[in-house]
Amino acid sequence: MKGLLLAGGHGTRLRPLTYTGNKHMLPIANKPMLMYGFDQMRASGIREIGVILGPLQEGIVEALEDGSKFGVKVTYIAQPEPKGIAHAVLISKEFVGDSPFIVHLGDNLLKDNIPEFAREFLRSEADASVILTRVNDPERFGVVLLEEGRIIKLIEKPKQYISDLALAGVYFLRPTIFPIIEKLRPSRRNELEITDAIQKLLDLGGKITYHEVSGWWKDTGRPEDILEANQLVLKDLKTSIGGMIEHGVTVSGEVEVGEGTIVHSGATLRGPIVIGDHSEIGDGASVGPNTSLGSHVRILGATIENSIVLDGTVVDCRERIVDSIIGKNSRIISSLTSPSGGRRFVVGESTFVSL
Ligand code: G1P
Repeated sequence: MKGLLLAGGHGTRLRPLTYTGNKHMLPIANKPMLMYGFDQMRASGIREIGVILGPLQEGIVEALEDGSKFGVKVTYIAQPEPKGIAHAVLISKEFVGDSPFIVHLGDNLLKDNIPEFAREFLRSEADASVILTRVNDPERFGVVLLEEGRIIKLIEKPKQYISDLALAGVYFLRPTIFPIIEKLRPSRRNELEITDAIQKLLDLGGKITYHEVSGWWKDTGRPEDILEANQLVLKDLKTSIGGMIEHGVTVSGEVEVGEGTIVHSGATLRGPIVIGDHSEIGDGASVGPNTSLGSHVRILGATIENSIVLDGTVVDCRERIVDSIIGKNSRIISSLTSPSGGRRFVVGESTFVSL
C-alpha cells in the first residue's frame, strides 16, 4: 500500500501565519500539522509516501527530506495550482502504479485507528473506503447519505441539508479511481472533487465501505480549528521533563518541557501544556492550560492560556493572553515601557488583534 499526503493549497483563512510559512507546517502540540497524517500512514505500514506540494512549500521538504530518517521513501509531486483533491490524486498516478493507496489531507487530524482501517481495506473487496463524522456545519464539507447502513450518495458542500455525516479527509482507494477522475469535470469551485469521483465509482457499481470516527476529527482551516486541534492533541499528553523546573514553580496536570528550557521559581504551569527546547518561563508568568510554546520562546510575567506560540517569540508584559496564535520571532512587550504609554504595533497584513 502507498500513501498520498496532500500539502498544497494556500491556507488563506490562516493569514498572516500562512504568508511566511506553509499551513501544513503550523505546529499542533509542537508537531507540524502534516506529521499527524504522515505518522498515521507510517503506522499503517506504508513505506512509500507521495507528498503533494503547492507553490508555497516552505519547510516541508526540509522537514521530511527523502523520508529515510522516518523509515519511508518520500516522493514529491508538484501541484502548481489548487485544482482539487481528485486532481492531486490524478497527478500521482505514476507514483501510485498498481498499488492500493491512502489519501490523507495534510490539514486533517484524526484520532482513530487508521492502521486497522487500512488492513481491513486491503483484505476487503471494496473499491474505496471513507471515514465519516457527524458535524454541525455539513455545508462546509463533503457529506454522504446512508440507507440501511450503505452509502447511497456523496455530495460536496451541499447547499441544502441532506445529511450531517461529513467525509473526513482520509480516503482508501485503488487505481480503479484513475479512469474515473480522468473523465471528471471541475466543480462549481473549479476543482476536481474526490467526492464526485467516489460518487461516480458508486454509480458504476463500485463497493464503498466506511467507518465512523470513534475518536475525534479536526479539519484545521481556521485559527479556531487550530486551537481546538491543539487542545484535542494535548488531552493525550504525558508528563516529560527534559529541561529544568526550579523549586517554587506551581505545576498541575500533564506538562512536557523540552531540553534546555528553564521554568523559574514563582511561575505557574497548568497542564496540559507543551514547551519546546531552550525556552524560558519567568517568575510570575503562568502558562496553560491547553497551550503549546515552541522553542526559544520566553514568557515573562504574562499569563497565557489556550494558545500556540511559535519559535523565537517573546511575551514580556503583565497581560492575560488567551485563545491566540502568535507567529515566529514576535515580540509582545509592555506598553508601560513606551514613553507615550499607548499600544504600539508592527503587524503584518491580515493580522487579528483584540485589545
Ligand atoms: C475537502 C473535501 C471534503 C471533505 C473535507 C475534509 O474539503 O472536498 O469533501 O469533507 O476536505 O476536510 P475542502 O477542505 O477542500 O473544502
